[in-house]
Amino acid sequence: MGKHILILEGDGIGPEIVAEARKVLDVVNSKYTLGLSFEEGLMGGSSIDEHGVPLTDETLERARKADAILLGAVGGPKWDKLDRAIRPEKGLLKIRSQLGLYANLRPALLYPQLVDASSLKPEVVSGLDILIVRELAGGIYFGEPRGIRVLENGEREGFNTYKYSESEIIRIGRTAFEMARKRNHKVCSVDKANVLEATMLWREVLDTLSAEYPDVELSHMYVDNAAMQLVRAPKQFDVLVTGNMFGDILSDAAAMLTGSIGMLPSASLDKDGRGMYEPCHGSAPDIAGKGIANPLATILSVSMMLRYSLGLPDIADAIEVAVGNVLDQGLRTADIYTEGTIRVSTSQMGDAVIAALTA
Ligand code: NAD
Ligand code: IPM
Ligand code: MN
Repeated sequence: MGKHILILEGDGIGPEIVAEARKVLDVVNSKYTLGLSFEEGLMGGSSIDEHGVPLTDETLERARKADAILLGAVGGPKWDKLDRAIRPEKGLLKIRSQLGLYANLRPALLYPQLVDASSLKPEVVSGLDILIVRELAGGIYFGEPRGIRVLENGEREGFNTYKYSESEIIRIGRTAFEMARKRNHKVCSVDKANVLEATMLWREVLDTLSAEYPDVELSHMYVDNAAMQLVRAPKQFDVLVTGNMFGDILSDAAAMLTGSIGMLPSASLDKDGRGMYEPCHGSAPDIAGKGIANPLATILSVSMMLRYSLGLPDIADAIEVAVGNVLDQGLRTADIYTEGTIRVSTSQMGDAVIAALTA
């Protein structure tokens, strides 16, 4: 039986970029007779507007049953003032934790055609190909206790808990080591082990685990230095493994090295490789509705879906080649536009990828 995909467009530019990714899915589905089937669901602000909550139990159940999920992005100013229990982002965090999507792969790969769009000098970034492995279902994002409480003196205090158990560290560590085995055999673990106990344990557990991967070189770096090294000499890295919050921040920084955050796809996988696929960027309220958002991160997320959840690496490769082909033609959305290239809209970019795929 064909695989079943749940599509969550989300908010802001979500529907615009997902429409282009969906076109790509439809084209590969018929070109290669994959027998994929699709259904749509609501998550984030659009679900709050319709159902009063960012993710209904019914949509969560449909997500559980799907073979893979494609997500645009959630959130926006319209919902920022709501009670914190029903923010759009809560839907995303719930689906990640309920489905056990702990391994977030964020590949920062600079297409050679975009070297001028990168914020760094060509000699520093050209050939960049790093993989950020971000722990996605634990850490300070989910640690309890958390909240906002009133202190004895009457003022309020916000608090969160940063914690990682050994088993949580081991499973994300294994993902990083396994991925490094398919790449350049180097893992750099990013932590703040000079200050935070949770990351002292993180470092110790990864050191122990590394004995099982003698062919992979493990190094450690403090997160402040890692942020600096990412913009100083990013090519020193192969696989970076880090916790939920550090991974969130470092992957946005790494995105810019590839020309734009609109280029960075992601896969969020469970222990069996089932997953949700989404661009690393958000709902970009500042450009929503203008038809100028870059759909390539979402299209490349479809490629990751074919590779990691649907067992179709050749078709995943074909999509990546098609994206390269479109960039060769000089086509650029506004975020990656540089002098001498051709500015195109969101849908023109999607159409060009399809033309390249079917050529
Ligand atoms: P953002 O990533 O939405 O936007 C940051 C900047 O990057 C903006 O200037 C935006 O225009 C630009 N940008 C982002 N994606 C782009 C694309 N595809 N093409 C061209 N330019 C693009 O981050 P933000 O502004 O901090 O957050 C906006 C909302 O998105 C917030 O509500 C936030 O919580 C949410 N968010 C959601 C996700 C997600 O659903 N996975 C991720 C990040 C942020
Ligand atoms: C991301 C986003 C999310 C995160 C938010 C919207 C909850 O920034 O996917 O990178 O912090 O994980
Ligand atoms: Mn983020």
